Amino acid sequence: MEFAGSSSIPAKLRERFQSAQKVLVLTGAGVSAESGVPTFRGGGNSAVWKGMPFDVISSAQMVERDLDAVWEWFDYRRNLLKELKPNPAHDAIANWQDRFGEFTLVTQNIDGLHQQAGSRDVVEVHGSIWRARCISCHEAVSIPRVGLRPNECESCGDRLRPDVVLFGELLPPGAFEYAAHMAARGDLCFVVGTSALVYPAASLPEIARANGAYLCEVNPERTQLSNFCDSVLTGKAGELLPLLNIDL
Ligand code: APR
Repeated sequence: MEFAGSSSIPAKLRERFQSAQKVLVLTGAGVSAESGVPTFRGGGNSAVWKGMPFDVISSAQMVERDLDAVWEWFDYRRNLLKELKPNPAHDAIANWQDRFGEFTLVTQNIDGLHQQAGSRDVVEVHGSIWRARCISCHEAVSIPRVGLRPNECESCGDRLRPDVVLFGELLPPGAFEYAAHMAARGDLCFVVGTSALVYPAASLPEIARANGAYLCEVNPERTQLSNFCDSVLTGKAGELLPLLNIDL
């Protein structure tokens, strides 16, 4: 396993990056940290909203019990996001999509910053904060950046809830299966800015590695995945990922 600080890219990784044909990138909250989006964990802390741990307010039970409180939490985060921009990590990853024969970007993030940076076909395994969906007919609707959030389903009139995967819920049908299929085909897999604690997303690098992919983690902190990686880049994604685009 190769380790590198924030100034250098190990030769083996650079070699694999330059010869790779099929690449999968899995991102988590850390890739948006330099844009100003708070992470959930990392640094020994975890997010709290009005005295409630984030995994309580962001849960299926809370939708049942108090949908307005759930909307308050997501409205707060969405309003934060309106001012924020993609950072060099998002830009570097967007740059990669046309570099490789096959490229798959899977994100646990719901912030839409990858798309804002120009990434196409982003597999959002945890949904999007920019969408709502009907509680009964499940029809999804976009939430505008400017103006009011829709309140009722246009098709059946029932209430809308955030179209994100909450704790205690399954992932959107097909998203994970597609990601797992692409992970198993890859020859290079990057894991960027995730604590790798939340499954099934955290199993994607394991699937990639088990099928022969070279696995590289990018994170200022060690995670439970680090020992499993071929390469660990210790530092901030916005500082490290652009270094890979510099062809030596
Ligand atoms: N660059 C790279 N990684 C970073 C940076 C940075 N600038 N800053 C922080 N990190 C790392 C932290 O060290 C931590 O390991 O990003 C990771 C963020 O971990 P979490 O907050 O646990 O976020 P994530 O792994 O995406 O959480 C998974 O859990 O809360 C649910 O649904 C939510 O999608 C989320 C899922």
